[in-house]
Amino acid sequence: MIICKTVSDYTGWRFQKGGRIGVVPTMGYLHEGHLSLVRQIRPACDHVVATIFVNPTQFNQAEDFERYPRNEERDCELLEAEGVSAVFIPGVDEVYPEGAASWVTVEGVTENMEGKYRPGHFQGVTTVVTKLFHIIQPQVAIFGEKDFQQLRVIEEMTRSLFFPISILRGHLVREDDGIAMSSRNVRLSPAERESARAIPRALQAAHALWLKGESSARVLRAEIRERLGDEGIRTEYVSVIDEETVQPVKQVGWGARVCLAAWVGGVRLIDTMRFRQGEEWDGSVSHNRVLF
Ligand code: PAF
Repeated sequence: MIICKTVSDYTGWRFQKGGRIGVVPTMGYLHEGHLSLVRQIRPACDHVVATIFVNPTQFNQAEDFERYPRNEERDCELLEAEGVSAVFIPGVDEVYPEGAASWVTVEGVTENMEGKYRPGHFQGVTTVVTKLFHIIQPQVAIFGEKDFQQLRVIEEMTRSLFFPISILRGHLVREDDGIAMSSRNVRLSPAERESARAIPRALQAAHALWLKGESSARVLRAEIRERLGDEGIRTEYVSVIDEETVQPVKQVGWGARVCLAAWVGGVRLIDTMRFRQGEEWDGSVSHNRVLF
C-alpha cells in the first residue's frame, strides 16, 4: 500500500495504474464502519483508495475540529490489512492552498436537519469531496448511510455537476449494543456510553410503533424524543424525512426515514433508521445484529 501525502505523489501513482479506482473518503480514526465501506466498494473497482483528511471547513467549532480523534498510523495498518492500494493523507495546506477561494454549494437537500443546525457544514463537505474527486479521479465512491443527509447531498452534487462517478450507499454498522459506529464514540465516558444506548432503542421503539400501524410522523418523533429525554439526552432534531427530497413528511409510508442528532454529555451523535416492512427488508444493514 502506498501512502501519498501530496497531490503530486498521488497523481504519479495514479498515472501508472490502469483500471477502475474506488474511493473511500474518511476523516480517519477508522472503525469497523469504515472498513465495511472498503469491503463493499472492492467488487466495484480494481484498486481501492482511501483518503484520510480531517476537513476543517466542515466543523462549526474550532474546538470540535481540534478534538477530533486522530491516529494515522493505526488507520494505515487497518487499511493495508483490508488490501487497500493507496491512502491519500494530505495536510490542510495541500487541500486548501493559500488564497484558495472556491466553494461548492448544493441547495435543496442541504436545507433541513444538519444544514439547519450546522451552518456552512455542507459547503465544507461538498467542497472537500469535490477536491478529493478531482485529485483521486475515481470511477466509484462510497459514503455511509449513517450520515444519510450527507450521502444524499453528495449524490445530488455528483448528479447535477456531472461527475462521472457512481456513488454507492454503504450500510450503517452498529456496535453490539446497538450504537451506530462513529469515530466520536471514543469520547463518551462509560456512563455516557450507557445512556447513548437509548438512541438505537428509541429508534427501534418508533419502528415497532410504525409496524403496529402508527403512521403519524409527529407521534413517532414524540416517542423518540420522550425516550431520549428520559435518559437525559438532549435531542437537537428528530426529523422524519422523504429519502429522496430530504424534506420532512407528515405521514410515514414507503421511502421514509427518521434521522436524529442528539447530545450525550458533550458528544454530538447522529443516527438514522429507515421505515420498512419486515418482510421486505433487504438486509442492507446486515451488521444490525441487535436491532431492526
Ligand atoms: O463523512 C466523513 O467522514 C466526511 O464528511 C467526508 C465525507 C470524508 C468529507 O470530509
